[in-house]
Amino acid sequence: MKATLLTPQLRTAISPPLSISLSFAFPEHRRKLSTSFILRGAPSSFSYLPLRVSANSQAAAPASAQTAKATAVPSEMKAWVYGEYGGVDVLKFDEKVAVPQLKEDQVLIKVVAAALNPVDAKRRQGKFKATDSPLPTVPGYDVAGVVVKVGSEVKELKEGDEVYGNINEKALEGPKQFGSLAEYTAVEEKLLALKPKNLDFAQAAGLPLAIETAYEGLERTGFSAGKSILVLNGAGGVGSLVIQLAKQVFGASKVAATSSTGKLELLKSLGADLAIDYTKENFEDLPEKFDVVYDAIGQCDRAVKAVKESGSVVALTGAVTPPGFRFVVTSNGEVLKKLNPYLEGGKVKPVVDPKGPFLFPQVAEAFSYIETNRAVGKVVIHPIP
Ligand SMILES: NC(=O)c1ccc[n+]([C@@H]2O[C@H](COP(=O)([O-])OP(=O)(O)OC[C@H]3O[C@@H](n4cnc5c(N)ncnc54)[C@H](OP(=O)(O)O)[C@@H]3O)[C@@H](O)[C@H]2O)c1
Repeated sequence: MKATLLTPQLRTAISPPLSISLSFAFPEHRRKLSTSFILRGAPSSFSYLPLRVSANSQAAAPASAQTAKATAVPSEMKAWVYGEYGGVDVLKFDEKVAVPQLKEDQVLIKVVAAALNPVDAKRRQGKFKATDSPLPTVPGYDVAGVVVKVGSEVKELKEGDEVYGNINEKALEGPKQFGSLAEYTAVEEKLLALKPKNLDFAQAAGLPLAIETAYEGLERTGFSAGKSILVLNGAGGVGSLVIQLAKQVFGASKVAATSSTGKLELLKSLGADLAIDYTKENFEDLPEKFDVVYDAIGQCDRAVKAVKESGSVVALTGAVTPPGFRFVVTSNGEVLKKLNPYLEGGKVKPVVDPKGPFLFPQVAEAFSYIETNRAVGKVVIHPIP
């Protein structure tokens, strides 16, 4: 798909009043706080660089999630776009991005919610430019939404299905030019699953990339019932799910995890038997060693000191110290399907950062927040108009 940047001048968009409903989920009490309020002209204005991205287009009229099935797909959509690598300021809001072209094995999703991952920020900073898709880019890996169109080779999904998934099969190798921070995104059927019925779109959107990473990492270490695990960064998007999967799905005998002081109770509520305050203790100095250390922060040199001699250390980021190993997550709808009973049964719960969900016009703020490296669970964007 060829993309073209046509008009490089800045302009200001005035947003209309927004009616929003916020939903926060915390695992222990499944706290669900619904707050409806009207934002009048908020944010009053924001600047963006209009980008015209060439792609196939279809009929007319915007579609809401609820009426998506019966509503025609427009030719243009609102999306967040960047035309150059850099800081948060390269992100621009554009109301006239072409709706992406559908391939035979893909479905077109009317996006209801999306979520950010650290990879979105690293990609925008140009850290993977050698293997990235061409600029300009609509960022976003995680999506939850409604199928509005299916390609000719799509076998199971149909219009109206509520789905979720990580839209990029390989996180770093040619991630899609048209991501999930848009009204529509086109995704291969095999990367998606039906949204768990008990979760709303905002909760579901935060799961795919993080839960697939958590699961794949545990599988790659050969984790199984009766084994112990130490999770470095238990409060983040991935770690909060590693704790739960290790305990609830794999049958861990003991789960330990690290965080700063204020997040220790969260770790315990997720199922950690031992919550280690990294501001007060060095986990590698504990007498106890673990069958697996899951490093979701970039401390592999220390992680290898906390593992048993025959154990495994998986390192998601940073330098790898043997016997630690690195992998990069592969998106796979089958993993989401496999985990569906645990999600629908309430054994594994999404953790949505209480600073969010961020509104669609606040995507740049949401990026700034995830880049503080302090997010609790997932940074979610909802609703997407
Ligand atoms: N290889 C792959 O396929 C793959 C896949 C997914 C993610 N990743 C990478 O894995 C890392 C984690 O991803 P994520 O989505 O879980 O990140 P995240 O949600 O942004 O992590 C934020 C959390 O990190 C915690 N943290 C910061 N410094 C810490 C420290 N020294 N020790 C323990 N916790 C600390 C913070 O808790 P406190 O405030 O308590 O410090 C915060 O809650 C990122 O670098 C990401 O790019 C790689």
